[in-house]
Parts: sequence; structure tokens; C-alpha cells
Amino acid sequence: MKGIILAGGSGTRLYPATLAVNKHLLPIYNKPMIYYPASILMLAGIRDILLISTPRDTAMFRDVLGEGHQYGLRISYAVQERPDGLASALTIGEEFIGKENACLILGDNVFFGHGLPALLSESVSGIEKDGGAVIFCSYVDDPERYGIAEINGGSVLSVAEKPKDPKSNWAITGLYFYDNECSRIAAGVKPSARGEREITSVNEEYLRRGKLKAKLLGRGFAWFDAGTHDSFLEAGEFAATIEKRTGLMLGCMEEIAYRKGWIDREGLLKLAAPLEKTGYGRYLTRVAHEDR
Ligand code: TTP
Repeated sequence: MKGIILAGGSGTRLYPATLAVNKHLLPIYNKPMIYYPASILMLAGIRDILLISTPRDTAMFRDVLGEGHQYGLRISYAVQERPDGLASALTIGEEFIGKENACLILGDNVFFGHGLPALLSESVSGIEKDGGAVIFCSYVDDPERYGIAEINGGSVLSVAEKPKDPKSNWAITGLYFYDNECSRIAAGVKPSARGEREITSVNEEYLRRGKLKAKLLGRGFAWFDAGTHDSFLEAGEFAATIEKRTGLMLGCMEEIAYRKGWIDREGLLKLAAPLEKTGYGRYLTRVAHEDR
């Protein structure tokens, strides 16, 4: 399975912070936002990743993540010329996806929760076995503000964008697993009334084919779309609270790479060295000296 992180967009809801800086490079507590979605792909076991961003910002992501070898990954880059919608990620990524299946994650989506790695692996193996698509839904209190899925036993019955009369409280998050049909389906998506090629249209096509499933993030999971001033701060506060209480890091790409066995102790210590003045660097050193 290949992974795509979509980290373009305009970031207007975080203005003026994002006038000159791509929002996915801003820190959620102690690490760039982009680490969190990248970690989710890594936890799903995905090592071949395409990062898509704007013509202005793509080079900066390369400065931060490079080719990914330091994490045992292969990271490549592509440009989205205009922020014309999430479905474009699957057409821009068509060649990258090739004959494989794909997981798409939005660069500003931050997930936490015990048991998430198991849900991710189940999704990968489910798609590999049966094809189709899997969306991740999070329970929310204010369903009118989100894309909402009506769900029965893991299968999706309907999806609706910001419904006035919501059929459930399950908001569709920015994490999607697709079979190899996704680029072809996305290529057929026409711009919506707001001028964007909507990912909802891709999901609706899988739904029409009876192939759309959902994983539910209920109690014990937290999901943030860190795209507004408040949600950005909340995500950072949440990460800080958990990290300080448990002494365990969230969204730490270096640690995941090490625990997965994709880099060795020496590789981890090399990543820790330039960070030695920070708690982050000391954490990596500590992990490197623990028995696995
Ligand atoms: P949004 O939050 O919907 O849009 P945005 O990031 O452009 O921000 P704003 O509404 O404040 O102007 O985007 C969700 C995620 O998808 C975010 O990580 C940016 C990314 N994105 C793209 O990379 N390309 C796109 O065409 C769109 C619409 C979003």
C-alpha cells in the first residue's frame, strides 16, 4: 500500500499565521504538524509516501523530511498547482500509486488513541483482501459542521456534507484507504458548486458500488483537524498533556521508525544528536537505550 499526504491548500483559516508559512510546517506542541499524519501512515506500515503541496511550499517539506531514508521511508514530492480539492490528490498521485492500493491522509489531521495501529492494519489488510474503500469516522458533538456518515455494522449507508438533519454523529475524518480504482474514480470527479473536486464524490462512488466501509473512532480517541486557531491550539495542548503525563511521545516519526525496525539504534541516535538540547532529543536517546 502506498501513502499520500496532502499538505497544500490555502490555510486561510489560520491567517495571519499562514500568510508566509505553510500550516503543516507549524508546530503542534513540539514537532511540525506534518509529523502527525506521516506517523499515521508509518503506523499503518506504509513506507512509500508521496507528499503533495503547493508550488511555493513543496521545497520546504523536502528540507524537513528529505527523501525519508533517515526514517527508513521513501518520500517523494509532487505539486498541486491550485487548491482545487482533495480528490486531486488521487489523480496527481496516479503514477505514484501505480498498481497498488493507497491511503490518503490530510496534512492537518491529527489522530490519537490507543488501538489506532490495529484499526490501521485492519484497514490495510481489508483493502488488500476485498478492495473497496475504508473511511475513518470520529464521534462529534456538532455533526452539522462535518461530512457525516450513516453507518450500520461497519458498512456505510449514506454520506452527507454538513447536513441540517444529521443521520448520525460520525464525522468523516481526513484519513481514507482505497483500492487501485481510486485514481480512475477521482479522474471522473467534476468540480462542485464551490469549485473543488470533492473527496466526498470519490467516497460516494464507492458507496454506490456497495464498497464503502467505516472504522469508528469512539470514546478514547481524539481527532483534530488543526485548521483553525482554536483546533490548532487544542491539538497542541492535547499532545502536550498526554506527552507530559505519560512520558511517551505522540506523532514521533523517529521512534516509530525505530520500533518498527526500519532504522537501527545507531540511526536513531544520529537523529537524536542535533536535537540534544531539547526534551525531544533526550527522549529519542532514552528510547535508543531502552531494551526493545
Ligand atoms: P482545508 O482545511 O479544507 O483547506 P485549507 O487548508 O486550504 O485551509 P483554509 O480553509 O483555512 O483556507 O483543507 C484540508 C486539508 O487538505 C489541509 O491539510 C490542506 C489540504 N488541501 C490541499 O492540500 N489541497 C486542496 O486543494 C485542499 C482543498 C486542501
